[in-house]
Amino acid sequence: MLARILLATTSQAIQSRLRQISDRPDTLVEVATGDTSLWETVSRENFDLVIVSRALIGASAPETVSSLRTLPESPDIVVLCEEEDPEERATLLAAGCLSVLYTGLPNEMLEEALSAALERRLQTAEEALVPTDAPAQPQLSDFVSASPAMETFMEVVHRVVASDATLLIMGETGVGKERLARAIHAESPRSTGPFISVNCGALSETLLESELFGHEEGAFTGASRARRGWFELAHGGTIFLDEIGEMPKHLQVKLLTVLQTREVQRVGAESSIVIDVRVMAATNRDLASEVEASRFRRDLYYRISVVSLTIPPLCERREDVPALVQGLIEHFRGEIPHQIEGIAPDAMESLCRYDWPGNVRELMNVIERAMLLTNDGEISRRDLPATISGLVPDLDPEFPTPQAIEEESLSVPQEWLKQPLRDARQKLLTEFERAYLVGLLEETGGKIAETAKRAGIQPRSLFEKMKRLGLRKEDFRSKR
Ligand SMILES: Nc1ncnc2c1ncn2[C@@H]1O[C@H](COP(=O)(O)OP(=O)(O)OP(=O)(O)O)[C@@H](O)[C@H]1O
Ligand SMILES: [Mg+2]
Repeated sequence: MLARILLATTSQAIQSRLRQISDRPDTLVEVATGDTSLWETVSRENFDLVIVSRALIGASAPETVSSLRTLPESPDIVVLCEEEDPEERATLLAAGCLSVLYTGLPNEMLEEALSAALERRLQTAEEALVPTDAPAQPQLSDFVSASPAMETFMEVVHRVVASDATLLIMGETGVGKERLARAIHAESPRSTGPFISVNCGALSETLLESELFGHEEGAFTGASRARRGWFELAHGGTIFLDEIGEMPKHLQVKLLTVLQTREVQRVGAESSIVIDVRVMAATNRDLASEVEASRFRRDLYYRISVVSLTIPPLCERREDVPALVQGLIEHFRGEIPHQIEGIAPDAMESLCRYDWPGNVRELMNVIERAMLLTNDGEISRRDLPATISGLVPDLDPEFPTPQAIEEESLSVPQEWLKQPLRDARQKLLTEFERAYLVGLLEETGGKIAETAKRAGIQPRSLFEKMKRLGLRKEDFRSKR
């Protein structure tokens, strides 16, 4: 991440000394030289660290420290004192100050203390960017390559891991594009930096622009404070532009400039910020034909496709299915209330024969469902969907709609009572979620932002749900 530091001091000498110390490639430094300018600057910009000299905050120093801490991004505060006063130091620390430094310290000691403050801040900020329920970081070794197609593919991947080259990851839905991007980042020299994933299809054009590039105070109505964009947050790490084929053309121009200059300009800003970010992009569209159809800029396509990686679809690497299935059984084992030993040979055969239009994601869903359904400790053909097993479905009653349940005064079919509550509830909820989202998407004509707003969920979360349920926004477009 790119950290923003405010140096607030009236002393020219301290200012130039601190500027020297805090001028690093991962920081942007601003200066405030008076009381009014301190408040004016902190209220419009987002600072991570405010270094303020004791003389500037006068008699009410502890109150000032507390107020600075209540700013939306709760900056860390370092107070610089000209004289050592243990009592005052204790009061300032109690008010929420990170450290109190004495200006009489030699430069190396000041530098060390400020670097420690900055490292700590960067670390917590970067940890906050990773959702707490984020799955463990995927590894390249997780990518099963028992098939010749995948073996060749992974050889190419290994050649580009360590470089800083922009990558375009292509492949059908559910093949593992995002997973691959995460794994490449995790094994690249940037692994200690952040991995920021942006879904270019899930946000409106204006929102996407300010999310990506940030904005200045007053850049548009409602922009009361400046905001950092994802590029700034990804400084030192990787930005993953998912569904890049969905990016509006006007932003494609802006992105091209960023790739060429390695600088970003916030919306409404006059100057640019230098950033050090590796860019990876993904799409399941055929970008070359999008270029031909003038929906994607040719110059941007050339720029991002220098190294393009197309993950082979599962139907072209059926040899990988058995190992993937074993891995998925291990993965879900802890989440299933009953013991599962493995899978029957004829069930595995059916899995290897199927075409997997939804690729690994579909395989995951099938395995999880089969593990929930099976009642003899081994996945059998009967536990697979009829389209895969080729068997006539069991007389398992249809899961009733909420309306049917109501009509039957909430009584549930006898069959359901044979299943654990968790499984039965999960299925009903999934069916309900699907029916709800299909209904809403039909009404909005497949518009993600509008659907998410009406459902009261984040667009990204809507996207994830739609993927899990196999719903595609294109299928709703003509229906409005
Ligand atoms: N080789 C693999 N081993 C285990 N799980 C995998 C593998 N590849 C993909 N997956 C899992 O499959 C699911 C889909 O992967 P991912 O989201 O990366 O696909 P995608 O190509 O980005 O799909 P989409 O185009 O729909 O966005 C994820 O849950 C991912 O963890
Ligand atoms: Mg994806």
